[in-house]
Amino acid sequence: MHVTHLSLADFRSYARAEVPLDPGVTAFVGPNGQGKTNLVEAVGYLATLGSHRVASDAPLVRMGAERAVIRAQVRQGERQQLVELELNPGRANRARINRSSQVRPRDVLGIVRTVLFAPEDLALIKGDPGERRRFLDELITARSPRMAGVRSDYERVLKQRNTLLKSAALARRHGGRTGAPPGRANSSLGADLSTLDVWDQHLARAGAELLAQRLDLIATLQPLADKAYEQLAPGGGPVALEYKPSAPGEAHTREDLYAQLTAALVDARKQEIERGVTLVGPHRDDLVLKLGQLPAKGYASHGESWSYALALRLASYDLLRAEGNEPVLVLDDVFAELDARRRERLAELVAPGEQVLVTAAVDDDVPHVLAGTRFTVAGGAVERV
Ligand SMILES: Nc1ncnc2c1ncn2[C@@H]1O[C@H](COP(=O)(O)OP(=O)(O)O)[C@@H](O)[C@H]1O
Ligand SMILES: [Mg+2]
Repeated sequence: MHVTHLSLADFRSYARAEVPLDPGVTAFVGPNGQGKTNLVEAVGYLATLGSHRVASDAPLVRMGAERAVIRAQVRQGERQQLVELELNPGRANRARINRSSQVRPRDVLGIVRTVLFAPEDLALIKGDPGERRRFLDELITARSPRMAGVRSDYERVLKQRNTLLKSAALARRHGGRTGAPPGRANSSLGADLSTLDVWDQHLARAGAELLAQRLDLIATLQPLADKAYEQLAPGGGPVALEYKPSAPGEAHTREDLYAQLTAALVDARKQEIERGVTLVGPHRDDLVLKLGQLPAKGYASHGESWSYALALRLASYDLLRAEGNEPVLVLDDVFAELDARRRERLAELVAPGEQVLVTAAVDDDVPHVLAGTRFTVAGGAVERV
């Protein structure tokens, strides 16, 4: 698929922007702070319902404005679709497809698909497990948009379960104290615990589905990541992706993972009630990224970490392409970080893509193989060269 037109209203630094786009390579060139990343961030938002730079929507709305609108005309084969998202920080976002009546924002997932690589991706290697979980879960959703529903079910159940555990922890702590009405605290603890069993089942069901998808994704991605790393840094690998679950076991199917998660919840129950928080499940898992024998985190050099993050994105791109619907590849401020050799390699790898959006501070940072459409971005204006 590719985007044929991007419109922004009150998004980031743009009061308005209208950007007609072609298939093939498009480069946005301009000095720092002029709004290049803001443009590709908007495209990425349509694909993931989130920004690759910030966790909340508030910074995405232009200072002083109330809401932002991102609109894209999208072409997939012969099919044209218009997607629209209205960002209302603090209130529900709204979405429309083909100007018809409103749909849920998550219903637009799958229309725009992107693989976005940006300097922030170094956090995939060096950052907290949450960064890697988000990487996995966004890719799962790009492969299969219905997983957005499973993810939000899981988040909802987790939140409810944590609330319950917190109140059980409180009841337990106050239960032994003199002054509390006799029996009251303990009976509410009893009620909480029987409800907890029900939440365990919900958590294990959504959790198992998420885990099954993550494990399948990792198995598919592994050889592609290894290949991509070899192309970027020959002889530097191999790379291995190892899932590290909080619920121990070797299960792979959804049913077995359900059983494994349920058993781990039983084992963790006492500790969970003491601490008032859910200690096992996909929200506590990590993906260990190995380079050679060692985990990249804590061991890999800056250059190796950079190549690794890029290899993960290129592998994601390969995977989505191989599975049918080609995503838009976004390379934000990437070339300036690479030496000449890796720059050329990357350029050759991505040049045949259906649509590749590149940002760079100066023309010279964009490799010659990626000669395509150019826009200059300066002073709030996006102009075709
Ligand atoms: N919500 C916002 N309202 C107004 N300006 C913003 C907002 N968010 C970011 N900006 C401005 O956008 C600029 C950064 O744009 P960006 O696209 O990151 O630049 P670059 O061209 O270097 O990629 C900064 O000058 C910043 O102040
Ligand atoms: Mg930028």
